[in-house]
Amino acid sequence: MPITTPKEMFARAYKEGYAIGAFNVNNMEIIQGIMQAGAEERSPLILQVSAGARKYAGQVYIMKLVEAALAEADIPVVVHLDHGPDFELCKACIDGGFSSVMIDGSHLPFEENIAVTKQVVDYAHDRGVWVEAELGRLAGVEEHVSSESSIYTDPDQAVEFAQRSGCDSLAIAIGTSHGAYKFKGEAKLDFERLDKISSMMPGYPLVLHGASSVPQEFVAMANEYGGKLGDAKGVPEEMLRQAAKSGVCKINIDSDIRLAMTANIRKYMAEHPEAFDPRAYLKPARQAVKDMVQRKIRNVLGSSNKI
Ligand code: G3H
Ligand code: 13P
Ligand code: ZN
Repeated sequence: MPITTPKEMFARAYKEGYAIGAFNVNNMEIIQGIMQAGAEERSPLILQVSAGARKYAGQVYIMKLVEAALAEADIPVVVHLDHGPDFELCKACIDGGFSSVMIDGSHLPFEENIAVTKQVVDYAHDRGVWVEAELGRLAGVEEHVSSESSIYTDPDQAVEFAQRSGCDSLAIAIGTSHGAYKFKGEAKLDFERLDKISSMMPGYPLVLHGASSVPQEFVAMANEYGGKLGDAKGVPEEMLRQAAKSGVCKINIDSDIRLAMTANIRKYMAEHPEAFDPRAYLKPARQAVKDMVQRKIRNVLGSSNKI
């Protein structure tokens, strides 16, 4: 199946109150696990590649892996650049065949964020490519930017930003954060703010980053087999489900995949100290990715049988 654009995917998700999962891909096993889950659930998918993933695997390698997955797939799949740091990287991915890019100017002053987003929009739209931008700042660590505290998205600014930049979807900050340590105390999202933004931008697809739930059984499994994950905590699944009913069409998940793989590899290694064939531990890791994505599709996204 050819690479799909998010346009129809998001339009239907918005109307029916579910979200599309955007899963970060870094290697073959992750791609295969995600694709197997999507195929079994008959769910549309977004495979997203960060600048770090591109550096780790190489753009040509990662694109060839994605192409191999798409050649076998009979579900719609978007290939998206996650957290594009500048125009040049967005351009490279557009030229390389991505159907969607994110330009992340969230750390820039408002006017500069609009300017760089508009530059990407002009280039992308001429080539039929979708553009996600971000307004507001998430706490946590990403490859090119790290923020101690979050700045929630201002609803009036969100309207102005989308109009002036021309971006097709907007990532907003309402209390989620990247990584596995999202909340010190109780988990809390600013649903009032989300509802205000979505009511001021009817029909417009919003995006939630930092949306891993950090299931505690995997933290426990990793810790049982030598990990040191401390008080890792994520966004409760039912909160994400609620967000998907309030204009959030794309939910980004990376940490949960990392956690599922790592916990299972640790377990395998601990139980098979004699093993040294990478296939032996990558096989349960790939299965863990599939199970995690299937769980997300069912419990969080609500995107089963939406093809
Ligand atoms: O938001 C960041 C994603 O989890 C990607 O992480 O930059 O380490 O690949 P990465
Ligand atoms: P998590 O760290 O919560 O998985 O967020 C991933 C993300 O937002 C990728 O852009
Ligand atoms: Zn993100």
